[in-house]
Amino acid sequence: MPTHSTAHPLKIAIFVSGQSRGSNMQSLIEDCKSELSIASVGVVIGTRSDSRALERARESNIQTTVVSPIKKTAAGNVENSDYGATLLRILRKYDIGLICLAGYMRILPPIVVEEFENRIMNIHPALLPLFGGQGMYGENVHKAVLASGMKIAGCTVHFVDQHYDNGPIIMQTVVPVLDEDEFGDLAARVLKAEHKTYPEAVQLFAQNRLQIRGRRVKILTIALAD
Ligand code: GRF
Repeated sequence: MPTHSTAHPLKIAIFVSGQSRGSNMQSLIEDCKSELSIASVGVVIGTRSDSRALERARESNIQTTVVSPIKKTAAGNVENSDYGATLLRILRKYDIGLICLAGYMRILPPIVVEEFENRIMNIHPALLPLFGGQGMYGENVHKAVLASGMKIAGCTVHFVDQHYDNGPIIMQTVVPVLDEDEFGDLAARVLKAEHKTYPEAVQLFAQNRLQIRGRRVKILTIALAD
């Protein structure tokens, strides 16, 4: 089941949220600029114009756009009912073949998940299926790992479905939990692993070397035929 045709270079869209630092976004941008990359970043889509991640994307000469999932009305804030349709319009405009969530804190609208089935990735700062789900983000994750007493931690790149941190796992990188670790130490060690793992997973997708079978993702040595 090919997920991407290698006949066309892959264009990716990176989704960030208001509070994103943009470090994973930056690692994807850098990797896509390398000579060996067969993917490029078409656009970074944010939820708020004042986000640091969008500023960093612009500094790297990447197209950015903001689509707010929330609409301000006289009666207060409501969900923006056009959010999904607007995202799809932008994704088509930039001819996007893969969406990469990088610190995007929401569930994507169902129409986007349907249209991009098996073509949306996320990175999570833990070894899923442990320490995932709603509320498991940022320091909450690393504090929970330390509290659990686990000797290993790490990150997971996975395909995205309608639930938080739930789709088929593509790659995981393990790091040790050291005796003296505070959550900041662990967070930094995991983040370093994230910056290496996410670009690798994206390049495998671009090379059409990911084969999804149920919940398992096989990494092929030879690309699938288009
Ligand atoms: C990362 O820890 C990532 O795993 C999670 O959100 C965080 C984003 O950090 N999904 P950054 O904005 O990429 O620095």
